[in-house]
Amino acid sequence: MRGVTAVVLLVVWAGAARVVSGTRYAFYRSMVDKSERGGEGEYTRRVFGGEAAELATFPAACALMDRYWRARCSAAVVAPRWALTAAHCVTPRIAYIKYNMRRPIGSDGKYVAVHYLYRHPDFKVVNEDEGRGMDVTLLHHDVGLVRTREDMVLESRPATDPLVALRLYNPVDLKNEEVEVLGFGRTERSSMGEELFSVKLQLVFCDRGSWFHCVCGVATGRDRRGVCSGDSGGPVLYRGVQVGVTSMGPVECSQENSSDAGVEPGTGATSVFTALYNYADLVNDTIYDTEEALRMQRIVGSAEKAATASTAHLATLTLVPLLLTILPAR
Ligand SMILES: *[C@@H]1O[C@H](CO)[C@@H](O)[C@H](O)[C@H]1NC(C)=O
Ligand SMILES: *[C@@H]1O[C@H](CO)[C@@H](O)[C@H](O)[C@H]1NC(C)=O
Repeated sequence: MRGVTAVVLLVVWAGAARVVSGTRYAFYRSMVDKSERGGEGEYTRRVFGGEAAELATFPAACALMDRYWRARCSAAVVAPRWALTAAHCVTPRIAYIKYNMRRPIGSDGKYVAVHYLYRHPDFKVVNEDEGRGMDVTLLHHDVGLVRTREDMVLESRPATDPLVALRLYNPVDLKNEEVEVLGFGRTERSSMGEELFSVKLQLVFCDRGSWFHCVCGVATGRDRRGVCSGDSGGPVLYRGVQVGVTSMGPVECSQENSSDAGVEPGTGATSVFTALYNYADLVNDTIYDTEEALRMQRIVGSAEKAATASTAHLATLTLVPLLLTILPAR
């Protein structure tokens, strides 16, 4: 087995301008957190103020499902067996990826079983109450990968190789530019359950230096728009290519019956994204190195199988444990 070396990424982010200071933030990992959150209620509202999106907008959009076939996070297919998402979405609960579909609970689309889970080795999150209720005060390296057991064959191929696209734009440099954020959300207007929604937001600096490689998105004009529960890990697109993953949204999104309770995210509520530009090498190397390691393993496995046919099953299967960190290249 290869050793896992720590990776040191230089962080040169400085929040230059301030944005919306009244908002608190939370992760929106899943829509069905009832059991985990002490019966606090289902998270049903996600992309808010957005609109139903066609899969053709971004055919790589996919959903991370648990073993009960519930969608827990959004992601994007970046290689035949790999989906890119947020680190906080990468938990052993994820059992399947569903892709080529607009509705996670519909009959369209394809399921594929998950093989390995990867989280950035330095992923870190701190939830604290600084007097206004629980809030994410620190967020480092919210990037993760999921490897599937079989190839995912997308209905249409992206024009740009997703792994190349990660290097094209650094959203941190795209202040005031418009991005499109996708998520498998149920919105206030959607009565048909979860489906692919998109929302267009303007990039701004976040007001927290303790969120590494993050950019924020705000609605332009007086609309309330943003991301909510279940959109976590979903792709953030600039000019049609993925430049980020959704990390957080305003805490109001998670409150039950929020529209009745009058605690809707306000105008100017911010969505928080992790920019992928600085992670392009790590993502690419993890994918290539893992595929290479697995290929070598298969060669070794079949050689041993030929040599000792009676114990073949010991040699060929389950050699690699569940990995929960990204394997840095060197
Ligand atoms: C990804 O890594 C492989 C192997 O090191 C390399 O050949 C390829 O050019 C890299 N791709 C990108 C987009 O960096
Ligand atoms: C939420 O709304 C439903 C249906 O409108 C209602 O039955 C339930 O009591 C509400 N829950 C809370 C906490 O307000």
